[in-house]
Amino acid sequence: MKIILLGPPGAGKGTQAKLISHKYSIPHISTGDIFRKNISEQTPLGIKAKSYMDKGQLVPDELTNEIVFDRLQNDDCKNGFLLDGFPRTVFQAEELDRFLQGEDTKINKALLIEVPQEFILDRMTGRRMCKDCGASYHVKFNSPKVEGVCDLCGGELTQRKDDKEETVKERLEVYSNQTAPLVEYYATQGNLAKVDGTLEIEEVFQNLCDILGSDI
Ligand code: AP5
Ligand code: MG
Ligand code: ZN
Repeated sequence: MKIILLGPPGAGKGTQAKLISHKYSIPHISTGDIFRKNISEQTPLGIKAKSYMDKGQLVPDELTNEIVFDRLQNDDCKNGFLLDGFPRTVFQAEELDRFLQGEDTKINKALLIEVPQEFILDRMTGRRMCKDCGASYHVKFNSPKVEGVCDLCGGELTQRKDDKEETVKERLEVYSNQTAPLVEYYATQGNLAKVDGTLEIEEVFQNLCDILGSDI
């Protein structure tokens, strides 16, 4: 099953992606996590991406598409994958379709996690993220077993630089202008399914699993 997760910043894409990837044994590919890893290793890609991410703007398509298509050629993607944070523009979606057509395959489901804006700021300011595996926690809604330590890998939990209030506002603006049109794009293809992202993490996960069913 080839899946895309859509939704505004803070919708819970990363949180749900970890759960789905574990349950269905498919790789979780997050462009945000790939960029953050490159930033922490100070690679040329990381240095370029940082200037956009710190402002809450999108990294240009020509930098982003290539890393995703490279990643999708790995053997572990043969039986399916879960994309989190990609595509984010109509151009990225079109290029992804073209790439998959070339591989004789296509996206099976685009899952939209819907969360109204008034929930977002609370989620972002309370978020703590694992430096090593990218897992998301929240000081109130999803706290780790040991404060400051990732349950999954033992990595250190930190705050994301782009989770400041002004940057979150910019990211929401960018989402509604550039990414929200993808909802229509996948609806037209007949692949869109929506879930209510304001429910508890476990309930959202259950609803996503119901949509994905057992034929994954
Ligand atoms: P990216 O890392 O993808 O950030 P985002 O899309 O803004 O989404 P977030 O990761 O902030 O939120 P999420 O939906 O994953 O929520 P989470 O599960 O963590 O991108 C960052 C930047 O990279 C972009 O701004 C851009 O610059 C660049 N970039 C990335 N991809 C790109 C692309 N394709 N093209 C160009 N540029 C790109 O949850 C949030 C918080 O809420 C957590 O604390 C969590 O514990 C909590 N939470 C989750 N679910 C629930 C729930 N049900 N109830 C209560 N709390 C919850
Ligand atoms: Mg995320
Ligand atoms: Zn971790």
